[in-house]
Amino acid sequence: MLSYEAMKPTKWLLGITGGIAAYKTPELVRLLTKQGKQVRVVLSKGGSAFVAPLSLQAVSGHPVYSELLDTDFEAAMGHIELARWADGILIAPLSANRLAALALGMADDLLTTLCLATKAPIWVAPAMNQQMWHHPATQQHIATLKARNIHILGPAFGEQACKEVGLGRMLEPEDIVSQLFAYPKPLQGRNILITAGPTWEAIDPVRFISNRSSGKMGFALAQAATRLGANVVLISGPVTLPTPQGVKRLDVVSAKEMYAAVMQQVENMDVFISAAAVADFYVKEAASQKIKKDMQADFWQLTLAQNPDILAQVAAREKRPFCVGFAAETENIQANAKQKLQQKNVDLIAVNDVSRKDIGFDVDMNALTVFSPEATYHIPKDSKYHVSLKLLEIISEQVCKKYNYESLINV
Ligand code: PMT
Repeated sequence: MLSYEAMKPTKWLLGITGGIAAYKTPELVRLLTKQGKQVRVVLSKGGSAFVAPLSLQAVSGHPVYSELLDTDFEAAMGHIELARWADGILIAPLSANRLAALALGMADDLLTTLCLATKAPIWVAPAMNQQMWHHPATQQHIATLKARNIHILGPAFGEQACKEVGLGRMLEPEDIVSQLFAYPKPLQGRNILITAGPTWEAIDPVRFISNRSSGKMGFALAQAATRLGANVVLISGPVTLPTPQGVKRLDVVSAKEMYAAVMQQVENMDVFISAAAVADFYVKEAASQKIKKDMQADFWQLTLAQNPDILAQVAAREKRPFCVGFAAETENIQANAKQKLQQKNVDLIAVNDVSRKDIGFDVDMNALTVFSPEATYHIPKDSKYHVSLKLLEIISEQVCKKYNYESLINV
């Protein structure tokens, strides 16, 4: 699975260990807070030789923690509590000594103890003399940390405080922050077609049949896919949402118009995601003039005819993209979804329970169960944007599996 870990942490613990680069850490705190993150600082004894706790307290707006056995600190927020509070840990600079302690799982100071006591993902920016960096012991410790899913940022190449030149400088604070929050681009260069919103099926020039879709799910998917590097064409029914940056948007009204637009765009698409709530029926003989109330009897009948099933028709094409459907269900969710997966011959179906008021139609949150012919995935309730990132992650994985690609980029 791709890692979107750095996108979510909002509560960051910044560990600072002994190294000349520690003097740059107030800037690091400033850049993290500029990203909207809360930051608490843990300063090792070595670190405090290079940066004053007071500077860090001023920029983070919180006391700086240093001692493992500090009664004041334990009374305010104990070390276990601090380890639970953080949802992301960054150690910069990380000295050779503390790197070894981390690799060995030691708990001989506050920072290493917190690293053992937390479930939060950890990023480290090592900084040391270039000989020390290349030493087999250091490299072995780095391999241990990587195997434990600890993310290594840098080090950078350049002139060092000791006047030697080589690998071992801490990355600049801007580079650390941009690497932390850089989105992976697993969909770079891929073409994705997405439908969104409802369709309107005219009864007369002023009345129509429709549904409660707001377009939010499809628009969030378009925004997330663009962020992951894809070229996105979004075909939208009538909604009032702004077009996400970088997305090519085509507006349609009825299901037949959506069908025509999809068929015109689908040729070179790698993935088709059908998030629109397409009306299954249209009014067979829509009136060309507004139907007058006085022309109506007590009962008034509309004859409905079936609209084309856009998703099924795309999936039936000889040269077809990877097809992802949505299913809006209110009961027998699993059975209905699996039936749609087979009937429409699609690669994945993402099901939302639209009987719930907190997810699905016309709200900002969603939760999905995604079925492939072989597997089931659960995407827990989150914003439609973050649900989209997770769904695109599953789609990337499944596309690679289906076509035996190592990655979706440049294949
Ligand atoms: O727009 P929002 O307010 O954010 O709400 C999001 C949503 C609930 C509309 C969305 O997440 C969703 O579930 N969309 C699909 C709704 C739907 O039409 O489900 P369905 O079970 O009727 O259709 C199954 C699939 O076939 C869907 O991918 C649909 O786009 C497609 N379809 C259906 C009918 C048709 N004539 N052509 C189609 O392509």
